[in-house]
Amino acid sequence: MSRVGIFGAGWVGLVTGVCFAELGHEVVIRDVVPEKIEALRLGHVPFHEEDVPELLERHAGRLSYTLDVADLADSEFLFVCVDTPPTYSGDADLSAVHAVVDAMPASDRHALVMKSTVPVGTGSAIKRRFAETGKAGFRYVSCPEFLKEGSALADFRRPDRVVVGDDGDWAGDAVARLYEPFAAPLIRTDIASAEMIKLASNAFLATKISFINEIANVCEALGADVVEVARGMGLDARIGPKFLHAGLGYGGSCFTKDVSALKLLAGNSGYHFQLLNAVIEVNELQKRRVVSKLQRHLGALADKRIALLGLAFKPNTDDMRGASSIVLAARLRAEGAEVRAYDPIAEQEARELMPELHYASSAEEALGGADAAVLVTEWPEFVQLDFSRVAATMRGKVVIDGRNALDPQAVRAAGLIYEGVGRR
Ligand code: UDX
Repeated sequence: MSRVGIFGAGWVGLVTGVCFAELGHEVVIRDVVPEKIEALRLGHVPFHEEDVPELLERHAGRLSYTLDVADLADSEFLFVCVDTPPTYSGDADLSAVHAVVDAMPASDRHALVMKSTVPVGTGSAIKRRFAETGKAGFRYVSCPEFLKEGSALADFRRPDRVVVGDDGDWAGDAVARLYEPFAAPLIRTDIASAEMIKLASNAFLATKISFINEIANVCEALGADVVEVARGMGLDARIGPKFLHAGLGYGGSCFTKDVSALKLLAGNSGYHFQLLNAVIEVNELQKRRVVSKLQRHLGALADKRIALLGLAFKPNTDDMRGASSIVLAARLRAEGAEVRAYDPIAEQEARELMPELHYASSAEEALGGADAAVLVTEWPEFVQLDFSRVAATMRGKVVIDGRNALDPQAVRAAGLIYEGVGRR
């Protein structure tokens, strides 16, 4: 069994840590935020992800948390799992990555394993930095993480593939061995290609979503139904059924920043990545189309009461980063509407970003007296709503299904007006 050090106690860091502890490794997780480390020592996970708290408790004997990099000095593997948020220019901000690289204790045998999503070329830059700072014992491995929030443990334990980009020395082999128990297809490649695999995968998935959203918008104009269209397209094995779900656009911390980072990375190297401009713009406009749909039904939105069902960027998470609800709520308020929002678990996170919203404590409360409802996040409890009761509590009749998750017939049978995204 190995000693695994992890920099960053976020989604990727904690899930990586707990899964390696589950395999029997000794794991030390280091973060720079004292409150986070304190909370973890008391068994509190700083975000919502199913089963992670239970697993942290079960493997507590092999997991420790620290603020001090010296506690990672005897870890053979040093995983970098820190944030790489966008800067104002849209490029990836690597300051947290550089801070941990510089803080790493020098020793004769360390594999730095980069899990954070970084621009192509970061590996080379870090290797140069090691040479300059006398950290000759370090080897660099790019091992990007593909887990999704909300299904993070399952994704980590059963990855579609494991990518290991390295210089062909002991470190790449050691990381490949570490991942062997997951029995996933292994891609051994060079560092730059591994870095690009991650960026290209996220950009491709975002492109797939923007593509189906554009098809949905054309379906609306021409009377076709995008759900039927996606079903028919998805059965083509070359296309596949996943990520063809039209809606209010993609959110989350990764797609938004990685698409922009790849576009700018290409631009910085002299290549104009035109397609990604469209992917970004389609996504921005998709969040706003709801406003004109509401105006079509209600006229001017001033003093209209709009219920937002769901705020997080997707179900099963309390993550509000990049959530479509942020743009939507701001646009509705700018039109003078009164917004009443409800999310089963993201309220606290949402309040920090949008303190001015009215927060309801249940879907029923948000819908009470509303002129229109917008399904923003497809939580199961919204899909299972009794729409005859919803109709009785609302003042108006309009239901906009921003995720095409509701049963249009059930909504209409309750006497409400149903409108999805790209649905007939
Ligand atoms: C994503 C990548 O999937 C993952 O591989 C990477 O490691 C991190 O970024 P995540 O941000 O957790 O994961 O969310 P994901 O489930 O991919 O969804 C992203 C967004 O796309 C959500 O807002 C979701 O609602 C939206 N989406 C997804 C669609 O609008 N339509 C779809 O068909 C699929």
